[in-house]
Amino acid sequence: MLAALKKKSRDEIESSFQISGKKGLEGTTFVATDPVTDHRYAIKLFSKTKSAAKLELEAEMQSKAAEFGAAPRVYYHSATEKFIIMDALVETIVEKGRREKWTKTPYDYQAMIYALCIRLDKAGVIQNDGNPLNLMVDKRGRLYIIDYGFAKEITPAVLKKRGSQPNVNLTLWHFARHLKHYKPLGLNDLIDIVNKYLKSNDYVDTVLRDHGEKLLKGELMPSVADALPGGESKSQEPMSRPPPPKPPTMETPVRPPPPKPPAKETPERPVPSPVLAQSSMETPPAMERPETPQAPSRPPPPTIATRHSLGRGELRKWAAQHRHMGIDGNSKSEDIRKAMERHRHEEAAKIAMRAVGTFISSSKKNEPPKRKKRPKATTPRRNRRNRSIYRQFVQDDREAIMARIEARRRGR
Ligand SMILES: Nc1ncnc2c1ncn2[C@@H]1O[C@H](COP(=O)(O)OP(=O)(O)O)[C@@H](O)[C@H]1O
Ligand SMILES: [Mg+2]
Repeated sequence: MLAALKKKSRDEIESSFQISGKKGLEGTTFVATDPVTDHRYAIKLFSKTKSAAKLELEAEMQSKAAEFGAAPRVYYHSATEKFIIMDALVETIVEKGRREKWTKTPYDYQAMIYALCIRLDKAGVIQNDGNPLNLMVDKRGRLYIIDYGFAKEITPAVLKKRGSQPNVNLTLWHFARHLKHYKPLGLNDLIDIVNKYLKSNDYVDTVLRDHGEKLLKGELMPSVADALPGGESKSQEPMSRPPPPKPPTMETPVRPPPPKPPAKETPERPVPSPVLAQSSMETPPAMERPETPQAPSRPPPPTIATRHSLGRGELRKWAAQHRHMGIDGNSKSEDIRKAMERHRHEEAAKIAMRAVGTFISSSKKNEPPKRKKRPKATTPRRNRRNRSIYRQFVQDDREAIMARIEARRRGR
């Protein structure tokens, strides 16, 4: 089957196979099933005008990522017919979340996303396009990162600028901020990890990474229990995030502005995409893919009684995920509960600050525009003097001008 696929023309691919997902920006992915082995291949067919060099780079970057189990395996690419053949996956994390009615990204999936980014660092590839539609699962629910159209090799210069985990700095930065724009993926704790990494480049959440690794290696099966509506007690999310306060005097709550992706290193596609600027952490992004994001749904916060009735196991799990709060899995339950309260207040304060910021900036927009001041003269003094000498010169007042020049020369 693979040998036959390699020889196929663009037209044959388009007419023989079913499209997987939606038509992408760069092209369309088709799925072909081997009639003998049942193996499923995905053929990403690019537009005819795609540069051969870029296609080669995408295939090379994805192959490297695949060697580390971060991307689906690449079998072949054609720079003339403009396609890449790889292992097919089943669905994006967004589709899975919708089907299974998630209300947030399950802990297991957050762990896999994190572990995958760390694997990409090991592979020497920055994926650089942390769009949740680029997270796909296989039939067992194991996660992969697809789409290496923005990927770049990790060079010493990249390490110098981004630290030892460039994919945490870039790819995870983008995933963490964009997951919440898809209703079933909701909020996540990956932002905390990225922020800590940005503060100190050797920060690693080893508990989350090791858990993600176990899932990627198939030692555990991913569970979605903590994302299901009835599974709040298992989730760290409702414990830590209260509902956003309403902005003062506004009738309809304004959604906080989405983040701006860090500036991109190589703006190649027509759409804005992930990019790199550690400083501009919370400014508006541009969603880059066809899918329309939805407002995140936040589950109601549990009552104090619920929080206090959490078992030791759940407290330990929460503590392991929130070690920045000065606790860990071995801390006393009482200390973990106190840290939870603190965390809840901090999150509430952050949300309130953002809401107030949104309110101020939106009310500024409604103010009548201020009258513009006349710009100050910008011509430097010396030029202004020269200009008056020149004017005299053109007015043919040569004597006067020679006198001024002489006077200035003497004066010096
Ligand atoms: N390995 C694959 N198996 C199955 N479907 C895939 C695979 N790779 C991509 N797709 C489908 O194609 C879509 C777009 O793929 P992607 O590589 O992200 O393209 P683009 O560069 O246009 O964003 C995905 O959302 C998914 O539906
Ligand atoms: Mg994509």
